[in-house]
Amino acid sequence: SQQTSLEDLIPVVNKLQDLVFNTIGLDTLDLPQVVVVGSQSSGKSSVLENIVGRDFLPRGTGIVTRRPLILQLVHVESDSSSVELAEYGEFLHIPGQQFYSFDEIRREIERETARLAGANKGINKLPINLKIFSPHVLNLTLVDLPGVTKVPIGDQPTDIEKQTKELVLEYISKPNSLILAVTPANQDLVNSESLKLARHVDPKSKRTIGVLTKLDLMDRGTNALEILSGNVYPLKLGFIGVVNRSQQDIQDSKSLDDSLSAERLFFESHPAYRSISHKCGTSYLAKMLNQTLMAHIRERLPDIKARLNTLIGQTEQELAAFGKTQDWTEQSQGPLILHLMTKFAGTFVASIDGSSSEIST
Ligand code: GDP
Ligand code: NA
Ligand code: MG
Repeated sequence: SQQTSLEDLIPVVNKLQDLVFNTIGLDTLDLPQVVVVGSQSSGKSSVLENIVGRDFLPRGTGIVTRRPLILQLVHVESDSSSVELAEYGEFLHIPGQQFYSFDEIRREIERETARLAGANKGINKLPINLKIFSPHVLNLTLVDLPGVTKVPIGDQPTDIEKQTKELVLEYISKPNSLILAVTPANQDLVNSESLKLARHVDPKSKRTIGVLTKLDLMDRGTNALEILSGNVYPLKLGFIGVVNRSQQDIQDSKSLDDSLSAERLFFESHPAYRSISHKCGTSYLAKMLNQTLMAHIRERLPDIKARLNTLIGQTEQELAAFGKTQDWTEQSQGPLILHLMTKFAGTFVASIDGSSSEIST
């Protein structure tokens, strides 16, 4: 499709992982994990689902997300012989069982939520771990969290606000977390829980992206242009407005594709947003995420280069030692191959880096 998605980063990240990390012995690229925060029903699960591009999260009015969901996307090469079976989910609590239906995945999240958090609106801080294996995803971890809840209902304890805030802080205080701070546009930004919490752990707002949901539900005659233009609340990475599926859309099972088209039309035809429509919507949010992840990868490059140089130094010593004692026999192929791979990886890193300077060997 013409939408920018996280899929666009797959080739770059795969190459890095194959060439650099497998060679120099780092086992992961350590991409930031993306955490969604916001008040209850602000649209967190909807935003996350739109970014992933699959329908599988429980969403709805009231308190639906009641345990953290740690969603690990795992890139697998597509197998052309079994296209339909290429994509599946697996839960940590049910090892070995593969879920090929995203409806089934949603039902299992609901069952597993109720198992520990009960049926009466309780919240439990033990996460549900779900892996999605797919040729269409980037190796990335996303976290869906219960909303910050002010007033206890059902089985919720009296200190529910404190508990939900602590739960959110536990995830967003990690320096490696990219925070999607969700605020509904039909509420006052000053009262935004997500922005307060994000500022608490990221005072310079280097890793916070503001997401303004429910732009379609604002009072007639009002709009969020000032906020989206960055004139109301300072965030380095800015605010992005989105329109997710409404409760009615969910009841009518409106498809993700239809929802994304409707969202595009909304921005392009809206008198206030028409001029900035290219910087609005889920597709732009995904693009921003891409850029932010790429920036993060670039930040890691000096470290990667240093490790490569160390490895090259070691390899050259080994090569020298081998060279003196024996000819190029089978045993000595290892270091040579490693050396060539390392050189190749160095060139690749330089090409991402944008710097022409190759790693000197
Ligand atoms: P969460 O509790 O923050 O995870 O929010 P959900 O994603 O579950 O959404 C809560 C409710 O708000 C659902 O009924 C959604 O359909 C609705 N909703 C979320 N985003 C929007 C939006 O942009 N526009 C409209 N009209 N409804 C939305
Ligand atoms: Na909700
Ligand atoms: Mg939710």
